[in-house]
Amino acid sequence: MCGIIGYVGTKSAKDELLEGLKMLEYRGYDSAGVCCFEKGDFRVIKKKGKVDALIEVCQGQLKDTHCGIGHTRWATHGDPSDKNAHPFLSENNSVAIVHNGIIENFEALKGGLQKQGVRFRSDTDSEVIAQLLQKSKCESELKKVQELSNLLVGSYAIAILFRGLENQIFAIRKNSPLIVGKAKDGYYLASDVNALVDKTDEYHIMEENEIIWIDSHDCYAFDKNLQAVEINYHKMDLSKQDISRGAFEHYMLKEIMQVPNAIKQTIKECDAPHNPYMRIPREILKDLKHITIIGCGTAFNAAMTASHYARERDIIVDCAYASEYRYQKYLNIENEVCIFVSQSGETADTIEALKIAKEHNIPTIVVTNVASSTLNKLADYIIPTKAGPEIAVASTKAYSAQITALYGLMDYIYCIKHKLNCRSCILKDKLADVVDKLQNFNFTKINKLAEILKDSERVFFIGRGVDYATSQEASLKLKEISNIHSESLFAGELKHGTLALIDEQTTVVVIATQKHLFDKTMNSIYEIKARGARVVLVTQFKADSDAIDMIVELPCTDQAIMAEIAIYPMQMLAYKTAVLKGLDPDKPRNLAKSVTVE
Ligand code: M6R
Repeated sequence: MCGIIGYVGTKSAKDELLEGLKMLEYRGYDSAGVCCFEKGDFRVIKKKGKVDALIEVCQGQLKDTHCGIGHTRWATHGDPSDKNAHPFLSENNSVAIVHNGIIENFEALKGGLQKQGVRFRSDTDSEVIAQLLQKSKCESELKKVQELSNLLVGSYAIAILFRGLENQIFAIRKNSPLIVGKAKDGYYLASDVNALVDKTDEYHIMEENEIIWIDSHDCYAFDKNLQAVEINYHKMDLSKQDISRGAFEHYMLKEIMQVPNAIKQTIKECDAPHNPYMRIPREILKDLKHITIIGCGTAFNAAMTASHYARERDIIVDCAYASEYRYQKYLNIENEVCIFVSQSGETADTIEALKIAKEHNIPTIVVTNVASSTLNKLADYIIPTKAGPEIAVASTKAYSAQITALYGLMDYIYCIKHKLNCRSCILKDKLADVVDKLQNFNFTKINKLAEILKDSERVFFIGRGVDYATSQEASLKLKEISNIHSESLFAGELKHGTLALIDEQTTVVVIATQKHLFDKTMNSIYEIKARGARVVLVTQFKADSDAIDMIVELPCTDQAIMAEIAIYPMQMLAYKTAVLKGLDPDKPRNLAKSVTVE
């Protein structure tokens, strides 16, 4: 949700900011803007639309700049427009800010400032930050920033410039990530490490409530009481290749093609002699009575898939959407563990849900894809997925890596509970077979199906048991990037209401990978066909019926992990359909990659 970049150093600030914004664009793309010091004063350029629109208007501008801040926006308060694009200047142009997050008490703060005669120029919550800093009576800029953090309620990562302090940037964060990059030629600020690849060798993840003050030579960090604190730099371990699109037309396509490798690398991690599962104390797992797996969107669907796998091993698992878990009544269940699943590790709802579990002293395990993430900092135990950076808004390879890691974790728990040797990953060979089959997947049928779906108004995905979890993910993927209305259902639930929507204009994709449920699922197919809909069956079993219009044949593997295979063509189906509709699958309408607001 929104990307922040800052630069101070010897290079062109304009170039560094625009390049950084391109790398952060997946976090939001409603509007973008930059503010640089130019001959001692602020120069702001901002534009509605994607970063390319900003790059266009910046041409020939901001020629001699060495310090500035930039922002790419995902609108929360105020429509996407030039007026509501960041950076914002205070009324007398003495302060410039960019903000990621939500200022929950902005109305009260704005009302107070308006009573003092301050005029606002945007509809955003963020502008209040610049106005508050201008109004501050504190004697130093550092104190003004400290005072600001005491006034704001909500989540924020903020970069600030003060007129008169040329080539200096201040920053503060709470519940929203911000990173400092150290380079030979100066310092950077960024919402995530992707923007700093090839720019810096070292980066510092700002702590909660930390205040940063940088110039081109130094970086100082302070806690909320303005006591100097030490900066911990991490080595940059990403390369340009990891985060570039390469020869692929879209990031999403590149990432779908990387699914087999994401599974492979995740197994490797889970099978290492000192694998991450082994860091979870046996005492916690041996008497475990209940697990809640928590996530949002695709991460929740991964949780659901894993819960079926766990159930087969007599492990009791509930799944909860993080946005619901946060507010539901707490039940004191003995010997419980909470597992939080998140690609980014920055999803606001998931972070808050984890904090609640910690308040209740429940051991917390996170399954994340970003080592530097907030969830990793907060959790008791970390199970990393090794999908590599995922840039496309639609999650694909991370999902496959998440279910791989969760399968491994469920096996590990099973072994501990049953006092079995659990040094190596039980699924290693079976998952290697999956990797092999996915690498050789034939997408010919998917291309044909995408041709049909591109003109559909309504698509349903149905399945029973674990296939329902796959249906959920397939449906989310399609609706997210192709804007086609899509729903997923338990196959047995159709006749309890939704059948009313089934007609000749409808396509129903039926996922059936579980032998014992196959005949029951066929019954649903007959019911659908009788209402005239087009039926597409996704299965590894032989099926021959006039009720089926198309079969997407899946390669066969152990039934317990067929979900790894079944989702793969569905991810590609969503991608192809979006492309055929002329949409940009990497930047779907109204969405952004990392949802750092509630
Ligand atoms: O980074 P996270 O895994 O926590 O993100 C959770 C969801 O926002 C995310 O999976 C979202 O649903 C994807 N865009 C789906 O493709």
